[in-house]
Amino acid sequence: MLGAGVFQWCLSKYTGGNCCVVRRPGRFLMAFRMDGKVAIVTGAGHGIGRGEALELAAQGATVVVNDVGGSVHGGGTDKAPAEEVAEIIRKNGGQASANYSDVADWEGAKALVQQAVDDFGHLDILVNNAGIVRDAMLFSMKEEDFDSVVRVHLKGTFATTHHAAVHWREASKAGNQPRAAIVNTVSSAGLQGNVGQANYGAAKAGIAALTVISSLELSRYGVRANAVAPGGMTRITGTLMKNAEIIEPDGADEGEYNPMNPRNSAPMVAWLASDEALHVTGQVFRAVGHRITHYEPWSLGPTIEPKKAPARWDPADIGAAVNAHIFKSRAPGLQMGG
Ligand SMILES: NC(=O)c1ccc[n+]([C@@H]2O[C@H](COP(=O)([O-])OP(=O)(O)OC[C@H]3O[C@@H](n4cnc5c(N)ncnc54)[C@H](O)[C@@H]3O)[C@@H](O)[C@H]2O)c1
Repeated sequence: MLGAGVFQWCLSKYTGGNCCVVRRPGRFLMAFRMDGKVAIVTGAGHGIGRGEALELAAQGATVVVNDVGGSVHGGGTDKAPAEEVAEIIRKNGGQASANYSDVADWEGAKALVQQAVDDFGHLDILVNNAGIVRDAMLFSMKEEDFDSVVRVHLKGTFATTHHAAVHWREASKAGNQPRAAIVNTVSSAGLQGNVGQANYGAAKAGIAALTVISSLELSRYGVRANAVAPGGMTRITGTLMKNAEIIEPDGADEGEYNPMNPRNSAPMVAWLASDEALHVTGQVFRAVGHRITHYEPWSLGPTIEPKKAPARWDPADIGAAVNAHIFKSRAPGLQMGG
């Protein structure tokens, strides 16, 4: 709501109708809105995804709330979590429908994208968030624990992205260039590593790579792709901490800032998904509590060459050269004269 004396006009000509300029005495502010956008949020029945669905809806977006309703380790199904979140959005005056697909099921992912188009006419935003954990040390991890975690996170992100990309490419070829955004969900466990999470971390690192590749392949069709490493006290974090009190985003006291509220990551997801971030693609951010941090991508560092380059390296020469010129260390062994 704009207060008395505040002057507002729309920049729809430039922004596609999702943004207004608000003039307050002495300065201009951008009123952030996502009206007219249709979003899918996967795994939105609980935790981080629930916060994202509620945030996107609060900003005016229409949301297809997806959740298979399984356990934190991936068993079972239940329609209630997705239904409940869609109902909260509708009760708050927004538009939403519920979807119960397993995102890693090829036909289920296709049906999810189709539901957005059938229910609301088009799709603008895909937030890939659904996830499970099955932590174990490498030597104890069962094959099925590796497969199921990689399946939900990595294949689940690919499956929805594939079907959404088909939709956006067709729209582009038909002359309706999309202004669309994918926001994927990664984790420090994949980008920095974490003990006991070989399956989860490998899947999350794979999603970071998938994000960059999606941004490269889909930009010509008007689609951006970015990723966020979120945080919050959810069912997943609850598996790592004894006696942790799990917080659902709408269960926490909105009046008081709680650094562990899973909704804290949602504003960054909303911004990345919005037309305010049209210049941002192929990027990975950490958005935990009140801090937003940019993950710098893998990039080439110092290079060494053999003394008689171009020629193949002798393995006996590599150690000293790596230590001196890459690690900038003279240990092990002394190398005089740099
Ligand atoms: N909580 C954190 O601190 C944290 C940190 C880093 C990354 N993440 C990531 O955030 C995402 C959400 O996790 P969370 O912590 O909110 O956990 P959560 O268990 O509260 O929510 C995950 C949701 O995904 C749903 N889901 C699981 N498999 C699905 C499938 N195949 N299809 C559709 N829905 C499915 C679950 O039913 C659940 O509602 C995950 O990708 C997780 O890896 C969380």
